[in-house]
Amino acid sequence: MAESITITDNRSGETIEIPIVDGGVSADEWRKLLPGIWFHDEGFMTTAVTESSITYIDGDAGRLEYRGYPIAELAEKSTYLEVAYLLLHGELPTNEQLDAWVHEITYHTFIHENVRKRFLEGFHYDAHPMGILVSAVAALSTFYPEAKHIFDPEVRYKQIIRLIAKMPTLAAAAHRFSVGMPFVYPDNSLPFAANFLSMMWKTAEPRFEADPALSRAVDVLFILHADHEQNCSTTAMRVVGSSHADPYSACAAAAAALYGPRHGGANEAVIRMLLEIGSMENVTEFVKSVKEGHGRLQGFGHRVYKNYDPRAKIVRQIAEDVFAVTGKNPLLDIALKLEEVALADDYFLSRKLYPNVDFFTGLIYQAMGFPMEMFPVLFAIPRTAGWLSHWAEMLDQDTKLARPRQLYVGQLERQYKPIDQR
Ligand code: CMC
Repeated sequence: MAESITITDNRSGETIEIPIVDGGVSADEWRKLLPGIWFHDEGFMTTAVTESSITYIDGDAGRLEYRGYPIAELAEKSTYLEVAYLLLHGELPTNEQLDAWVHEITYHTFIHENVRKRFLEGFHYDAHPMGILVSAVAALSTFYPEAKHIFDPEVRYKQIIRLIAKMPTLAAAAHRFSVGMPFVYPDNSLPFAANFLSMMWKTAEPRFEADPALSRAVDVLFILHADHEQNCSTTAMRVVGSSHADPYSACAAAAAALYGPRHGGANEAVIRMLLEIGSMENVTEFVKSVKEGHGRLQGFGHRVYKNYDPRAKIVRQIAEDVFAVTGKNPLLDIALKLEEVALADDYFLSRKLYPNVDFFTGLIYQAMGFPMEMFPVLFAIPRTAGWLSHWAEMLDQDTKLARPRQLYVGQLERQYKPIDQR
């Protein structure tokens, strides 16, 4: 028997059978039987907004795949730009395709001088780098007005290249500006992640080349953060993109969504929590207070993963590689103890709360010298590939304008009173 559900409208006795396809049921059928009755689904907990073939997550099994390739294999064998190509094109590139792709990205890393001189320098001296990034990405649409021709394949592709290429430049510029350091131009003789680290840390030396272990660590972290299907920022990208806004405006909206502590800010919250715990002796007491309802264990639990986040396992390994170069982050021992205590506790096990990707990333970034304000910026650089992949997929599907319904619970037809009678 075909899989289906049957819905009966108890007011009329009418019944409708809806097939279950790919794990979902079509709202079109629901609409036919029940026009004007809306699903009340805050946070889209039960709503699939699209069919997508980009990223697969099985949260119970702790499985994450980009275009069918397991994340661990990509992290081990690929580079971020190769993975960005995969996300956007659906296939891993051949040597020739990869060379052309890397060439294109590399030759679009520079930003217009006016973005730097007139725009970035207009921010207040202590502006948050994520605020700068969000605004700078939006401002790019004014520098590339042709970007609005989103259905012209060449124009679309050009903006995709520009956005992926310029993100690290804008990110590093935002940091340099916020700490009063001069802007560093891209060094296009360096690979993507190394170029970013050069723009971040170069001072007076003619050429800055980060330790290869650190460049590789950043590149792998970029792979791990490149996509995560319909997360909050990708949803923002799709909602704005569904109005056919240009990709810079849509990406700025996505970056704005990532700015929030519930999405891009959890690794910062982990560091603050570890600082608050202060020493290994306090871990057990801290876990007890979390169980009693005082706050949450930051970097634990996930809306989708009800198992060890597969990215967290890889990040743990990266942490070791990075600490071998930078020296161990002193907060690591507290983090490991916290993980050990929580994973031996029925409170966390019974609720399927395991470390997520953010549990160790903050420790790595901190050891590499990134200020906490840069954590969401570091997330935005690679997620741009994911945002653009979903945006392009959505445009190719010719989806409708995103426009949900509401259940109105306010007052109706009130009598207007002139101001002197209120
Ligand atoms: N510490 C302690 N208890 C928790 C935690 C936690 N981190 N997370 C969930 N719980 C408890 C929660 O209190 C609830 O218990 P009860 O059933 O007794 O009321 C139960 O587990 C289910 O929680 P929920 O809030 O319904 O779960 P959710 O799916 O809405 O929350 C989450 C997911 C990520 C918001 C949450 O786990 C959390 O706040 N974690 C800490 C913040 C964090 O690490 N966020 C980063 C997420 S990964 C980033 C990314 O992938 O982009």
